[in-house]
Amino acid sequence: MNRKVVLASRPDGVPTAANFRLVQAPVPELADGAVLIATDYLSIDAFIRTTLDDRPGFHGQAELEAPVMALGVGRVVASRFPGLAEGDSVFGPIGAQTHAVMPGGMYRKLPAGDLPPKTWLGLLGMTTGLTAYVGMLTVGEVVSGDTVVVSAAAGAVGSVACQLAKIAGARVIGIAGGSAKCDFLVNTLGCDGAVDYKADDAGAQLAAHAPNGVNVFFDNVGGEILDAVLLQLAPGARVVLCGAISQYNRMGEVRGPVNYLKIAERNASMRGFTVDRYAGDFARMEADIVRWSGEAKLTMPEHVVTGIENFPTALGMLFNGGHRGKLLVAP
Ligand SMILES: NC(=O)c1ccc[n+]([C@@H]2O[C@H](COP(=O)([O-])OP(=O)(O)OC[C@H]3O[C@@H](n4cnc5c(N)ncnc54)[C@H](OP(=O)(O)O)[C@@H]3O)[C@@H](O)[C@H]2O)c1
Repeated sequence: MNRKVVLASRPDGVPTAANFRLVQAPVPELADGAVLIATDYLSIDAFIRTTLDDRPGFHGQAELEAPVMALGVGRVVASRFPGLAEGDSVFGPIGAQTHAVMPGGMYRKLPAGDLPPKTWLGLLGMTTGLTAYVGMLTVGEVVSGDTVVVSAAAGAVGSVACQLAKIAGARVIGIAGGSAKCDFLVNTLGCDGAVDYKADDAGAQLAAHAPNGVNVFFDNVGGEILDAVLLQLAPGARVVLCGAISQYNRMGEVRGPVNYLKIAERNASMRGFTVDRYAGDFARMEADIVRWSGEAKLTMPEHVVTGIENFPTALGMLFNGGHRGKLLVAP
């Protein structure tokens, strides 16, 4: 039997358990070219929220009563696809379910070796480690001596982005909510400073940490945090638009930056990216990440939520700050 979390109603604001339903159904027969995958881990990604609205978003639109979209890793249980065999580990669009029957061509066969398959959701994950790599090193062009600020720094992308900036020789200031996460940024991730955006003096904290201005801002949050950092830009700064999680629960009324004139005044630039656009460079990036991980320069803390029925709770954690590092569901 397959246990799947389907969309029962479209959320208004932060998704709640009432927007989803757990359904049990027999696993369908395999057609030619299809594979049956048993899910090991699902990646809880911010883009999932943008698929739940009543109008299609950049990543498409979830259908009511269909399993919620999610990337994951799993094992092939049965295959009628020539490129995959029983026992293979795969990465791809599995959905919020314990078992998936899909065209085999939608999955990447993961190499056998020392790395656990869930690494391809975390450090090597397209939506995590590779996103941080593209944003910080390719788009942000961080160099030694830069002062770098990362928002949602204690989350999945942010954790890797901070560490990549340290590897490049930058001074790194992370922004996160609460003193425990700020301690985590400094003591676990090696940031040089941390700003608690939930504190009253967040703007002053930022100014104190970057007295000569911010050279690279890697933004995962948007809204008020983007505006606060724009005020602190150094001449020639690069603002990298990775995401805007503060806006995803109200995509119909996205708040743009009020302080955008600072981009002109500081001769700065603001550049967004989508990670898939850089797929041609993934092999090189993966090799770098594996090497730095082996040298203990990169770590990926994980928060694993157990039980497919807890998928909605995990999705909500993206917005209430309940995790550090990579958020996963193990069904
Ligand atoms: N450009 C691309 O191709 C690409 C690819 C993948 C992901 N992304 C983006 O990367 C960003 C991070 O995604 P992720 O999967 O790594 O999530 P994550 O950082 O692990 O989780 C989201 C974090 O955002 C913070 N947050 C939530 N609502 C907030 C708000 N209103 N104000 C300030 N902080 C808030 C929370 O941390 P606190 O406890 O600190 O509030 C939470 O832990 C997202 O914006 C996502 O869209 C972009």
